[in-house]
Amino acid sequence: MSDVPVIADPAAMSAWSETARARGERIALVPTMGALHAGHLSLLAEGRRRAQKLVLSIFVNPIQFGPNEDLAKYPRDLAGDLAQAVSVGCDLAFVPEAASMYSPDFQTAIEVREVSQGLCGARRPGHFAGVATVVCKLFNIVRPHVAFFGEKDFQQLAVIRRMVADLNLPLEIVGLSTVREPDGLALSSRNAYLAASDRKRAGALYAGLSAAKALREKGERRASVLLNAATAEMASRVDRIDYLEVRASEDLKPLATIDRPAVMLVAAFVGGTRLIDNLRLDG
Ligand code: PAF
Repeated sequence: MSDVPVIADPAAMSAWSETARARGERIALVPTMGALHAGHLSLLAEGRRRAQKLVLSIFVNPIQFGPNEDLAKYPRDLAGDLAQAVSVGCDLAFVPEAASMYSPDFQTAIEVREVSQGLCGARRPGHFAGVATVVCKLFNIVRPHVAFFGEKDFQQLAVIRRMVADLNLPLEIVGLSTVREPDGLALSSRNAYLAASDRKRAGALYAGLSAAKALREKGERRASVLLNAATAEMASRVDRIDYLEVRASEDLKPLATIDRPAVMLVAAFVGGTRLIDNLRLDG
């Protein structure tokens, strides 16, 4: 198999897309920060099915990391990522340098106000502005017709959908189901941080969410009861629950009683690693 061509220069990336568009080809984009896993591959496989051109972007976006977060140690494996990109039939990898994305006088930020509040938005100030800003830039540079994101980052997906609607960005956003390990742990590049003993405990997040979902399926509508069930399952196995909440799936508004499609979202520390997960409680 031949290598996936790599473009680093944003202007060259846009020129490539213009050529494809002029030929009438549909472009799919899967934005990532690299360290690809089966969750990313499922996004790429769906992109492959839905477009003539499939672009993978790999960019560890500095502006979505807080000052005490893991930017420096975030897993990076460009050669491995490109090998996986070949296996799913990517046409191109866009791998820009930070300096070409953010000039020294860069001063714009996209803030998606309400959906970014609470949950990870409260614990990671500025994170979703960093995500929205880079994703908007990627859309403007790559000019995809359709872009794919995992539901594992549920709040991120809601932020991106809101931004696309609010700014009339001319593309379709597709969210795909979380890919899980056999014990339910959601695939994440950050799982690489887990020590073996922590890895065994990390399935607790999904166990807790599943306990809540089982109660919901029996007809329970009180969020407090569902949260207690999830907490009981998780508390002894994780080191700290950072947040555990029931929100409306559509707009992430807090729910005390489930009267519309709902999702339970959790962030918890296992060892030194902060993991996030979520589960739709209906369907
Ligand atoms: O989910 C991610 O990997 C990142 O937040 C994204 C969407 C690629 C933006 O940097």
